[in-house]
Amino acid sequence: MTGDTDDETRPDGGTVDAEGADEVALDPWGSSSVSDYRKLFEEFGIEEFDELLEAVANPHYLMRRGVIFGHRDYRPVAEAMRESEPFAALSGFMPTGDPHIGHKLVFDELIWHQQQGGDAYALIADLEAHSARGLSWAEIDGHARNYLLSLLALGFDPEEGTLYRQSEEREVQDLAFELGAEANFSELQAIYGFDGETDVSHMQSVVTQMADICYPQLEEPKPTVIPVGPDQDPHVRLARDLASRMRFFGVTTAYASFEATDEELDVLETAYDAREHYADDPEVPRCVEAAAWLAEADVEDGPALESVLEKLENAGMEPIRPRTRLLDRRASEAAFEGLIDAIEGEKRVFEGHVDAFDLEAAEARALAREVELEYDGYGFRAPSSIYHRFMSGLTGGKMSSSIPASHISLLDDPEDGYEKVKSATTGGRETADLQRELGGKADECPVYELYAYLLAGDDDAFATEVYEECVGGERLCGGCKEQAAVLMREFLEDHQEKRAEVEELLEETGIELESPRRG
Ligand code: TRP
Ligand code: SF4
Repeated sequence: MTGDTDDETRPDGGTVDAEGADEVALDPWGSSSVSDYRKLFEEFGIEEFDELLEAVANPHYLMRRGVIFGHRDYRPVAEAMRESEPFAALSGFMPTGDPHIGHKLVFDELIWHQQQGGDAYALIADLEAHSARGLSWAEIDGHARNYLLSLLALGFDPEEGTLYRQSEEREVQDLAFELGAEANFSELQAIYGFDGETDVSHMQSVVTQMADICYPQLEEPKPTVIPVGPDQDPHVRLARDLASRMRFFGVTTAYASFEATDEELDVLETAYDAREHYADDPEVPRCVEAAAWLAEADVEDGPALESVLEKLENAGMEPIRPRTRLLDRRASEAAFEGLIDAIEGEKRVFEGHVDAFDLEAAEARALAREVELEYDGYGFRAPSSIYHRFMSGLTGGKMSSSIPASHISLLDDPEDGYEKVKSATTGGRETADLQRELGGKADECPVYELYAYLLAGDDDAFATEVYEECVGGERLCGGCKEQAAVLMREFLEDHQEKRAEVEELLEETGIELESPRRG
């Protein structure tokens, strides 16, 4: 274990460090362990969930306990939730085995977003299971049924939400085709390590997942969150890219006819704001005047300043005037014309872009999306994601479906579930005396994880009590495991009873339970 790092520990749940490989590689089809979650922030640009916890109106316990540790761009989803505006949540499940307590995290996340008023989507990634994992359709059907029953048993409302199989949803396939036109082989190679041996169906399953992720926005663009494990982040990043490449128009700010980067825009803003100081006529500050002032002024020296000076000098006597610029990225001629017509107030049309002088950037973005939709575009918003920690295996190491004792399947006989917890490794000390003296290591204990991720449910006080008693030396592992084992048995009994009850509901959903496909 790498438990001797100086990572922050959380009294209320979620171990900060998980055992696993030293390297952090995010591979959707490889090993899914993360040894150091901090690297995901530093190297991959995943954002820390804690920082926006306050923005979430009624956070789920997995959020409160840091099990959901990271996100990409979740803010718009949280905002839509607060404002009661439309939003969606979608995730997918590869039917390669039995659903287990790791999948339950994602089921719960979808159900929670549904209960917060979101459109919830759950899909069976059967094309992916067939192409990337080589499962037969008969095997897939069996597993798919089990995933769906557990999802419904945990409370997913199929009347409010949407369930589908990748193989069955024509609209997803059509969207995959369109999105695939924006991605090429080199890109998939760079992201997923595909090579000349990679079969074409596997590649098709990637564009299918891209379409899954955008699917909730087909009728109407809206903030959409994809709750997944961090191994799926490469998919999320590609989907965000593709969604934005599909957009007809881009919106930026400009001060004159030339283009500028974000850093250059900051410099230009400074120069524009100081126009009183240097312009002959402050109503019409000229580019050369601004350049002369900037060269002398106390502005941070750097490449942005250099390049701005050059651009301003080249522009000569052109007046500086802030404007919103709408760029034609992939619009048809008709759509670009449509956009130009839709812009109110003063505007100037150029080859490939139009400058609007009486339009704020936010208004321009809304307008651009409206026009895009009018002209048969999708107007996608970049999808967001949230990431949960992987649970540690009960036998130490990582949870692995190939080691049954390391994880608990939602289909496990409740007695077996009880036994697995009883035999789990713990973060306890060698002897009871030592444990009383030093306290247990709850942050390294798979049993504590069971409490925090599942057994304590919504009851934060209970999770905290277990934690405090453990690290305070009042709790000994034997009794602690017995308590957890009993709770696990009860959970499995209850869950399996509910699974039996939702059999009929599953039939009513109309989702295909037996694929007509061969092979
Ligand atoms: N690739 C995912 C997995 O391995 C399954 C999946 C397919 C998915 N489509 C998705 C996940 C869309 C999230 C969103 O489990
Ligand atoms: Fe884990 Fe419980 Fe032992 Fe603490 S007392 S180390 S939580 S099993």
